[in-house]
Amino acid sequence: MLIRTPKAWELPESAATPESLYHLRPRRDFIKTLGLAGAAVATRDLFATTAGFPTRINPDFRDPALKPTAHELITSYNNFYEFGTDKADPKPNANKGWKTDPWTVEIAGLVNHPVKIDANDLVTKMGGAEQRVYRFRCVEAWSMVIPWDGFPLSKLITFADPKPEAKYVTFVTFNDPKNVPGQRRGTLDWPYLEGLRLDEANHELAFMATGIYGQAIPNQNGAPLRLVVPWKYGFKYGKSIVKIEFTAKPPVNTWQAMQAREYGFYANVNPNVDHPRWSQGSERVIGAGGLLGGRQRTLMFNGYEKQVAALYQGMDLAKYY
Ligand code: MTE
Repeated sequence: MLIRTPKAWELPESAATPESLYHLRPRRDFIKTLGLAGAAVATRDLFATTAGFPTRINPDFRDPALKPTAHELITSYNNFYEFGTDKADPKPNANKGWKTDPWTVEIAGLVNHPVKIDANDLVTKMGGAEQRVYRFRCVEAWSMVIPWDGFPLSKLITFADPKPEAKYVTFVTFNDPKNVPGQRRGTLDWPYLEGLRLDEANHELAFMATGIYGQAIPNQNGAPLRLVVPWKYGFKYGKSIVKIEFTAKPPVNTWQAMQAREYGFYANVNPNVDHPRWSQGSERVIGAGGLLGGRQRTLMFNGYEKQVAALYQGMDLAKYY
């Protein structure tokens, strides 16, 4: 999250293809193969992901006022420091032979059901994928709207069956310096890790994403599994997770370890608390409003205040940034 000047290519409104992608047609042949044609779900609500999972739109998490950002922008304007520090780096660099399938995920720590499981099997165990459209806000003061496919994190927590002592969840992402040149450099302390309080992780908005726009999540966006917590800044969304560990104490997340004065554990979107380098009162909407992006006011908890404020009752939100 270095200071940089946006380049002209990053925000071409003309590159936006939200309509065609957002209304992807269901692949009935695929659905039939899976034997779902007769299932009690409307086929128009089903999308097939290339990972092999049909995903069902969840109307409870789709605000008609939100206009999803174009797939092309979501998948080419990225922060993934393992693959470079420029927004344009991850797309080419994460697709030069880096393998994200097969992929093993470990559930560990203070749980009654520790397990190592293939990422595809995990999605199946979670009952498949659903699609939710969420606001996405980076601490660098830019934003998108993303149709994520995946499953609620609370399902994974139920599956793991945490012990009473478990109070936090840590999301450890991959460490593969042999195949990922960025991890041979000390840009950050690898592996990238993030954490949530257990009650935050159990909130119905917390999500594990395996797809975007009904297609398998691309490597540059954190294949095959990444965290999504829409009321928090984007750096909380650990990408390409290999281990989910339940602990009694909070982990120190990667950016907090790097610069605790700038990046806290909570990282809840808060327009009233500025980052030392970025005012958080407004945001640049990627893909809107021409070359520099349209600006809009940033909302408390990124617009999810009604749903999540109770998690932080009695806390001084300026202190717990
Ligand atoms: N996860 C890993 N493993 N490495 C990273 O560098 N960057 C974070 C987060 N997850 C990061 C990561 C930051 S700073 C942001 S803003 C989001 O991923 C960006 O996600 P996107 O590229 O899919 O928009």
